[in-house]
Amino acid sequence: MSADLQPLLDALQFSPDNLPLRQHLARQLNAAGRHQEAETLCREGLRQHPTDDALRLSLADAYFASNKHSAAFVVVEELLDQHPDNAAAHLLHARLLLAAGQAAEAREAYAHALEINPGLADRDLGQALEAAAPAKRVPTPAGGGYRPAPAPDEDEPSAQAKLLGLERPKINFSDVGGMEAVKDEIRLKIIHPLQFPDLYKAYGKASGGGLLLYGPPGCGKTHLARATAGEVQASFISVGIAEILDMWLGNSEKNLHQLFELARSQAPCVLFFDEVDALAANRHDLRQSAGRTVINQFLEELDGATRSNEGVLIMAATNAPWHLDPAFRRPGRFDRITLVTPPDEPARAAILEILLRGKPLAPGVSTAAVAARTAGLSGADLMALVDGAVDVCLRASMRSGRPLPIEQSHLLDAAKLVKPSTKEWFATARNYALYSNEGGLYDDILVYLGVKKPGGA
Ligand SMILES: Nc1ncnc2c1ncn2[C@@H]1O[C@H](COP(=O)(O)OP(=O)(O)O)[C@@H](O)[C@H]1O
Ligand SMILES: [Mg+2]
Repeated sequence: MSADLQPLLDALQFSPDNLPLRQHLARQLNAAGRHQEAETLCREGLRQHPTDDALRLSLADAYFASNKHSAAFVVVEELLDQHPDNAAAHLLHARLLLAAGQAAEAREAYAHALEINPGLADRDLGQALEAAAPAKRVPTPAGGGYRPAPAPDEDEPSAQAKLLGLERPKINFSDVGGMEAVKDEIRLKIIHPLQFPDLYKAYGKASGGGLLLYGPPGCGKTHLARATAGEVQASFISVGIAEILDMWLGNSEKNLHQLFELARSQAPCVLFFDEVDALAANRHDLRQSAGRTVINQFLEELDGATRSNEGVLIMAATNAPWHLDPAFRRPGRFDRITLVTPPDEPARAAILEILLRGKPLAPGVSTAAVAARTAGLSGADLMALVDGAVDVCLRASMRSGRPLPIEQSHLLDAAKLVKPSTKEWFATARNYALYSNEGGLYDDILVYLGVKKPGGA
């Protein structure tokens, strides 16, 4: 049968913009058991028509058939979020729920599908649902019962996706003070290749590979990664290293491969690994070979994700790049490593502006003046400063019985109480930069500390 599809596939090659043809072919490929091809075809099409229901449904079918259940859940639940009347999507949802062991919900979903379109009745599925759990209806709270998807807020990821750590960040670069050089680098190396893939391809410029941010704690690495996703309206998946270890040790229902699959299914997506150094550090806690295997598996997935860079941006952050296994820095992995320094004076003023947004301020509050007196403070230190000022102000408001605005003196007093938290980091970093600076890896640190001239030897 499937050989008959060749003329259609040729036709699609010829006119890739023919949406009905693509929809038809995706269905046919799935029916013929050619799920991988169906998946590719749908994803190509969704790049141009990201909300096309037929393509999304076929994609979810393909995922389901290839056992990528969490990816299928994500696609189906998003579809149902927007189109709760899509009977075929409810039917697939029922199959997914059944496979996930949620028989009661699966039955509700199936009933819902048939309510909308009785023609979808499927005897095998019906029997499997009956066998899976007693047919007695579970009493539901008033107004409750089966709901196809959580809230109708289009921006909210589904429950299943949330379980895997998926978010849609609402912050963007305008919520990140300073860091202009790092933002530019992210635009050039990550955002533009994502926005103009064809242009990059035409110049033979390979995109792919991840960006590793390193630097003292509290200087905005995690914040910036989240804002990068918001900047390109991409999804964001943040993974802590403890989670990766859990996945590998089998203590978690998620696994590494699933995670990368989810990222691909959510493209454009920023997949962010926070505190990757812990992976290397933790290696010693595990049996030696176990640590090696988890790193290898991680690197394998990483290579796969960056090679078939289909709108998945890989970022990572660490306070201790020197603990990182050098295998992470091979080309195509984290071959770009960028120092995130504490904010300079204009950046501190910008961060203070952001932190004070929406708070009642007395006239005459000058963030520039506060910035001038807070050399060495990180973004997190500035947060502590603003918190302190707000506390003092709240207490004064309580005493006077009316809301008082934040005064300049509140900020300056609070500034005296906050100690720069990055000094210790630089003491350590300096040693690594001086004594194990292979290939000039940490030159940026030496330049920042004034030990070395920019670009000089
Ligand atoms: N450049 C910045 N602009 C705005 N807020 C910042 C900035 N840097 C840090 N912050 C604030 O400080 C907090 C801590 O920063 P974080 O990103 O967690 O630091 P890191 O990941 O480098 O340890 C953030 O949640 C953010 O609110
Ligand atoms: Mg962080």
